[in-house]
Amino acid sequence: MGGAVGMIGMNDTETARNEFRVMPANCSDKRTILVVDDDPSIRNLIVEALRHEGDYIATEASDGKEALEALRSNLYDLVISDIQMPGMNGMDLLSRIREINPLISVIMITGYPTVGLSVSAMKTGAVDFITKPFRIDELLYKVNIYMREKSLLSADGLLHRVEQEKLRDKVRQISTKGFIYDFIERLGVSNDNVFRVIADLALKVSNGDHCAILLYDRESDEFLPKITSNVDPFPPRHSVSWPKKLLREVVSKKDGALFNVSDPNGSPSILCAPLMIRSNVFGILGLWKDRNGICFTDQDLHVILSLARRTSLNLENKVLYETLYTNIAETFRALVASVQARDQYTERHSESVMRFVVRTAEIMQCSPDDIECLKIAAMLHDIGKIAIPDHILLKPDELTGEEYGIIKNHSTIGDDILTPIALFEKERKIIRHHHENWDGSGYPDGLAGEAIPLLSRLIAVADAYDAMTTNRPYRLSMSHDEAVMELHRNVGGQFDPQVVNAFIGTFRESNPVAYPALACPARKQQRD
Ligand SMILES: [Fe+2]
Repeated sequence: MGGAVGMIGMNDTETARNEFRVMPANCSDKRTILVVDDDPSIRNLIVEALRHEGDYIATEASDGKEALEALRSNLYDLVISDIQMPGMNGMDLLSRIREINPLISVIMITGYPTVGLSVSAMKTGAVDFITKPFRIDELLYKVNIYMREKSLLSADGLLHRVEQEKLRDKVRQISTKGFIYDFIERLGVSNDNVFRVIADLALKVSNGDHCAILLYDRESDEFLPKITSNVDPFPPRHSVSWPKKLLREVVSKKDGALFNVSDPNGSPSILCAPLMIRSNVFGILGLWKDRNGICFTDQDLHVILSLARRTSLNLENKVLYETLYTNIAETFRALVASVQARDQYTERHSESVMRFVVRTAEIMQCSPDDIECLKIAAMLHDIGKIAIPDHILLKPDELTGEEYGIIKNHSTIGDDILTPIALFEKERKIIRHHHENWDGSGYPDGLAGEAIPLLSRLIAVADAYDAMTTNRPYRLSMSHDEAVMELHRNVGGQFDPQVVNAFIGTFRESNPVAYPALACPARKQQRD
């Protein structure tokens, strides 16, 4: 193929910039890619690099509208799209692509990455999310992976060599439609869980007998088995001994390897694929077949390589996500600490409220996602107090009406503080409404009943209970029993009856006689 930009050897189609191909894109053996970016220099760079690879026909579009026209008249295997574009942005384009043809893989690119944006892109169906500036070889690496997976879906890939039903099952399991994304999200943050499912999945798609994830320690040049998985529920009679020479070859070549010996009754068949983050091998996905005479095949190697690369990419995204999430969490911990430095009450109060709401949420059978969300929202629910002057926030006497009005601003200020962080969108809403009252008499928006987010209603009850049972400069604390009675008295006024019932249920668990369910509609203003 021609090499760099504008080199000889390009045909008319390749040189026709901004003109959409009229021939069906699948007339050629080559895979078709649409590059969408309003910046012509980046667009050209990507297109030329793809053409230089030789396996792709690359077309370009300068905005979402042009891209949609191209997508309606041609078939594409992959779309690479910028997010920030005039008119229709990349996220809107992604949604439209999903409507037009959900099988098209989409890689999103942005110069302004946020965790929320990347998660949102993944959830809308993007297969990857790349941030500018990026290295063109990294983009090509990812494109090659997705294109290779596409070959699994195509009739001229593995289809003619593998039993149709079996392949359908394999394709379903490793398809680009987010299978691995889905279970990584479902599995939460434990890498061990991810490795476990990957190992089980690898066994299924390769028909191996044993699978292991071996972590590679570069310093000692050793391989540490992290996860092992066996088809046979009983432990293997002999411990599986992975040949180091083969493993080292996988690390040095950064490619898969197949080890089959000529003697069918001798050594087992072994298959290895590298697990990489940012082009560095951090581990090996190894499979072992000890049934005499049955060996892994090249097609098994292709499937496992594809799975290993997919796993690597997802782990890379997961590491990125966790890093960004940790950074953001650290930022807000610092913010909370700055409030706590002014007001020791808030420090203990935030943690107590968090403990109470988590227990209440568990009784109400809230989802694990909601409980995670509550932990953050409870810790940050009074973050807006950072903007309340000391002479009001720390005033030991009764507040004037005007001062109380200023204190009440803390819920909207908390909302404003969290606005720039897309990741905390849900928590932001919960914090904004944590002083709304069930009967509509609260603030800032006067929401009533179920119009108030449920998690805000949970915080409202825990917040009030903890405030009532804590000594403040302007009043003495109530006893636990008095506070519980106070909650009951404000059921239907300030508080959601169901939430109060569940909150008291956390105490009722240990003493059912002392805490019968009651209801009383009166309400009382809450200062804290
Ligand atoms: Fe508050």
